[in-house]
This record gives sequence, C-alpha cells and structure tokens, in this order.
Amino acid sequence: MGFKVSALLSVFMLTYLLTAMVFTSDQTCGSPDFARSPKVSCGIWHQDVSTRSYIQDTHPMSLVVYNPTVTPVNMTYNTNIAHRGILLGGMRRIQKDNKTFTFTTEEHPDYGPFLVSVNGVPGDPSKHTYWELLVTLKNGTEIRPNVGVGCYIPNPYDKVILKFSKW
Ligand SMILES: *[C@@H]1O[C@H](CO)[C@@H](O)[C@H](O)[C@H]1NC(C)=O
Ligand SMILES: *[C@@H]1O[C@H](CO)[C@@H](O)[C@H](O)[C@H]1NC(C)=O
Ligand SMILES: *[C@@H]1O[C@H](CO)[C@@H](O)[C@H](O)[C@H]1NC(C)=O
Repeated sequence: MGFKVSALLSVFMLTYLLTAMVFTSDQTCGSPDFARSPKVSCGIWHQDVSTRSYIQDTHPMSLVVYNPTVTPVNMTYNTNIAHRGILLGGMRRIQKDNKTFTFTTEEHPDYGPFLVSVNGVPGDPSKHTYWELLVTLKNGTEIRPNVGVGCYIPNPYDKVILKFSKW
C-alpha cells in the first residue's frame, strides 16, 4: 500500500514537472539577438526523464554580473542548477536566495524572455547598451551562446557572465 501510494505520487510529480517544462520550453526558447538562427528547442524533457535522478541531480554554477559602469565591477553568485535545467531557473534561484541579485526580463512573442535589467541597471537602446550573455566553460573556453537565458542549459561548472555591453 505504502509503495503504491509513493509510486503514484512519483507519477504525479513527474507529470507535474514535465508539464511545467514543456510549457517552459515553449515559452523560453530563442533570442532576439540571433533572429537569423532557427528557433532552438530547449528540449530538456526528452532526455533522461525516465529516471527520477534527473529531478534530484543538481550541479554547481556560478554567475558573474559584469558591469564596468558600477562599483564593484563584478559581482559573483554561486548556486546549484537542476540537471539539464535552464539558466533562467538558476537565475531565479539566486534572486530568491540573495537580495543583492535582481533581474527583469521581457517576453518577446517569437523568442521568449530576454534580459532587460540586471541589478537595477536596464539595457537602453538609445544608449546602445544591453546585457550580453557569455559563458566560460569548465576548460576555460569562453563562448557566446546563440540562445537567451530562457533557453541556455548550463553545463556543470559553467561560469555564466551577464555583461553590460555596448553595440
Ligand atoms: C570581471 O569579470 C570578467 C569575466 O569573468 C573578467 O573578464 C574581468 O577581468 C573582471 N573584471 C574585474 C575588474 O574583476
Ligand atoms: C549574496 O551575494 C554576494 C555577492 O557574491 C555575497 O557576498 C553574499 O554573501 C551573498 N549573500 C547571501 C545571503 O548568500
Ligand atoms: C573546451 O570545451 C569545449 C566544449 O566541449 C570545446 O569546444 C573546446 O574546444 C574546448 N577548449 C579547449 C581549449 O580545450
């Protein structure tokens, strides 16, 4: 009986989580910076979902807010992110846990959420400023993901950099 109840609960939980993820991936893919690339699927849930470990596994990620116009220039935040979870999830967790980190996004009808402001500083098109997403991989290579915060899936030990940049 106990087993049945817990098995049933797991199924409900999994269904609930998967529903949320399917919804999330529909909402969050793409990036207006990369209008030329096809819409990329966030596709988290088609992998590993048959095991519950996927829900429980987390890995470390650090996030640097790099804004040369303020002091200190760099603020570093550490968190754990769900295995195959999206960056936006990690950012929301940091925002919840640490009052010094805040961000806002705006929903683009085609590309999902994109970053508008970080730590109270908004990108301003009239001043040609925006928040750029960069990632330093575990091996030190720096990349510029071709998707936004709603779609990027951090690798273990990624250092994600939100850089206040000019274009
Ligand atoms: C801030 O962080 C960036 C990205 O890691 C790094 O390139 C830069 O040198 C740092 N700047 C300062 C002043 O620490
Ligand atoms: C919030 O982040 C700052 C910057 O890394 C850190 O100094 C501080 O200890 C963090 N606060 C909490 C409550 O984690
Ligand atoms: C670091 O890892 C990435 C992704 O696995 C790879 O593309 C890149 O070539 C690696 N860089 C170095 C210097 O090994």
